[in-house]
Amino acid sequence: MTHRFQGKVMVITGAAQGIGRRVAERAAAEEARLVLVDRNDYIHEVVAEISQQGCEVIAAQADLETYEGAEKVIQETLSHFGRIDILVNNVGGAINFKPFTEFTEAQVVAEINRSLMPTLWCCRAVLPTMVAQGSGVIVNVSSVAARGIHRIPYSAAKGGVNALTESLAFEYADAGIRVAAAAIGGTEAPPRRISRGTPEPSNETERAWFQAHIDQTKQSCLMKRYGTLDEMAAPILFLASDEASYITGSVLPVGGGDQG
Ligand SMILES: NC(=O)c1ccc[n+]([C@@H]2O[C@H](COP(=O)([O-])OP(=O)(O)OC[C@H]3O[C@@H](n4cnc5c(N)ncnc54)[C@H](O)[C@@H]3O)[C@@H](O)[C@H]2O)c1
Repeated sequence: MTHRFQGKVMVITGAAQGIGRRVAERAAAEEARLVLVDRNDYIHEVVAEISQQGCEVIAAQADLETYEGAEKVIQETLSHFGRIDILVNNVGGAINFKPFTEFTEAQVVAEINRSLMPTLWCCRAVLPTMVAQGSGVIVNVSSVAARGIHRIPYSAAKGGVNALTESLAFEYADAGIRVAAAAIGGTEAPPRRISRGTPEPSNETERAWFQAHIDQTKQSCLMKRYGTLDEMAAPILFLASDEASYITGSVLPVGGGDQG
């Protein structure tokens, strides 16, 4: 194991489970100082487990669908660590899987609030600190599903994350800040302790709608399989590290050949 994050202060959002948690575990092993953010109470359990690795780690519990939540995370990080070197915007995830015309207005808004706004708010909240420092790295977790079926509002949200990545990199390169994204593919993970709120399919049609997005994800992938948590966490952390010091504004597809 290398020590790419020795002494670096890294904020990881959505770290109570799944990809965010695996990113946190691997960053801890590489000696990052961590702020693990989630709105769910499980985040305290994860912080307790990761601190066993000998890592300096704190929890910040907040709802990142609000700017207030994002600001709270940045303020708590600054009062504990005094600086922020890396922000990994990982909160997101599709909720509903069905043809676009089946989405209600409220469901469209919920997808944008889940998969675009936390990243937008956290970037807005962290940038003044990074600008004042003259350095910082933001890595956004996007998805190959920016091009995909049966989750169009989520696709639009992740397309927004990609645009945010490219344009923030443009606007803040002079300030010494890098912004990149990993557009990750379908990921095998243990069953979620924290539900995304996806309703159980109640009939054959709904089951077929759900299955269609899985089939499309595998068909668009040259390797014809989902990736592992580590296959997602590794490129996210590469982009966050100084090994990627000449990479900014890039959206790296991490989908077994699916270009998104
Ligand atoms: N799992 C996949 O197959 C897959 C594929 C492509 C992209 N992605 C992307 O990877 C990222 C992580 O996915 P995952 O499957 O590990 O997610 P997940 O749904 O398993 O976990 C998300 C975490 O974020 C937290 N969270 C959700 N909304 C929040 C909010 N408003 N404020 C604070 N915390 C909040 C949840 O409590 C949870 O701990 C997401 O951005 C997702 O879109 C995932």
